[in-house]
Amino acid sequence: MNTNESEKTAFGGSTPSGERLSLVTICLDSQAAGELRQFVHATHFLRLQAEASIYLIEDDPTLPWMQPPGPDICLIDFDQDRPSAIATAERIQEQLPNTAIFAISSNSQPSLIIEAMRCGCSEYVVKPADREQLLEAVVRVGGRKREKREQVIGQLLCFLGAKGGAGVTTVTTHLAALLAKSCSRKTLLVDLHSTCGESALFLGLVKHQYHFYELVENVERLDSELLQSFVLHHPSGLDLLAAPNFSEPELHIKTESIGRTIDFIRSQYEFVLVDCAPGLTDQNIEAIRHSDHLYLVTVAEVPALRNVARLLDYFTRHDLAQHRVDVIVNRYNAKNSVIAEGEIEKAIRKKVFLKVPNQYKKVIQTINAGDPAAQLGDSEVAGSILLWAQAIGSKTSPEAAKKKTGKSFLGLFGG
Ligand SMILES: Nc1ncnc2c1ncn2[C@@H]1O[C@H](COP(=O)(O)OP(=O)(O)OP(=O)(O)O)[C@@H](O)[C@H]1O
Ligand SMILES: [Mg+2]
Repeated sequence: MNTNESEKTAFGGSTPSGERLSLVTICLDSQAAGELRQFVHATHFLRLQAEASIYLIEDDPTLPWMQPPGPDICLIDFDQDRPSAIATAERIQEQLPNTAIFAISSNSQPSLIIEAMRCGCSEYVVKPADREQLLEAVVRVGGRKREKREQVIGQLLCFLGAKGGAGVTTVTTHLAALLAKSCSRKTLLVDLHSTCGESALFLGLVKHQYHFYELVENVERLDSELLQSFVLHHPSGLDLLAAPNFSEPELHIKTESIGRTIDFIRSQYEFVLVDCAPGLTDQNIEAIRHSDHLYLVTVAEVPALRNVARLLDYFTRHDLAQHRVDVIVNRYNAKNSVIAEGEIEKAIRKKVFLKVPNQYKKVIQTINAGDPAAQLGDSEVAGSILLWAQAIGSKTSPEAAKKKTGKSFLGLFGG
């Protein structure tokens, strides 16, 4: 059986969670490394994130793949230097508790297998690696990841503008309110702006006492009760953690506390949407690092598209979310746009995920009314985002949702 056939059998025809598992190899000998590359190439739900050539004897904060949450799988060669391989496994287990560690070795003595298991390895692969065995091990990791996510972890979606005013707050408030109201999903919107965030204004929730960064300051005592005391409630069912007012004293926040706060929030909601301020701030990068998906919001103008291309390049170089980034073109008018869709895609070297129509008057009316989910009847903006909300949040199948709306998701998303 070839890898694709066994993959289909193992997953019943689909990948475990619809996303690729990331793999880092450590000190693999050249033959095993070559075989593994072929295996990854033939296994469409795997991606080789890095191939490390030295063991992790000391902390190395410069290694991108050692940043939490870390890769899904680390495959460590135990043949070159066994004590260092053991130390590496222990370090990964301690610092990246969500990463599955596989040992690979040509020695299959039971005492060595037990030793590897004791230092945190969940699988012991004997060289030359048997593809079926390796595939089954990877499938187990995918299954565990999916189960964990389905049980407790909500999806974290980050939204970043290619420039200020591109439409991040418009898009996020619409999507969040529609996930809450039309899809009955427990949804929270986090306004990550450190000043002048406008999510609360767009949702008509202008009177608020607390903001997101105060919650971050209290991360040490964070529990669901504390979280709820900070959250604002919107009539659509959406919850909001607002941004600080302009008058707030300067914030002294540890960036890692933002990640910890977001991780806790995810355990309480099905969807967490983050409205990022423009630019690659430390806060944004921390949120993006923890996210399941990043959406870059742009308009069809040369400077903004240039920024999209630069941001995509940055994410690739820093191994940040590149495999799960999509581009949304806001205020798009197919008839009058100076830059056609094909030219946009050429400029950003990526397909456009969603085009949101330009409907200035309606958007302003929606902001004034403070309820994006109530504007479905005559807002093309809300209509286009509803299909997306249903695609990711519907409890019925996408086909049933399509029958209901009469429109296809794929056409809408440029797929
Ligand atoms: N689809 C749209 N059609 C027409 N006008 C829009 C649309 N989306 C946004 N706008 C207009 O652009 C303005 C800026 O949008 P928005 O506040 O959502 O951008 P932003 O990216 O969140 O900005 P900031 O960088 O300041 O956070 C809105 O107030 C509205 O006037
Ligand atoms: Mg905004």
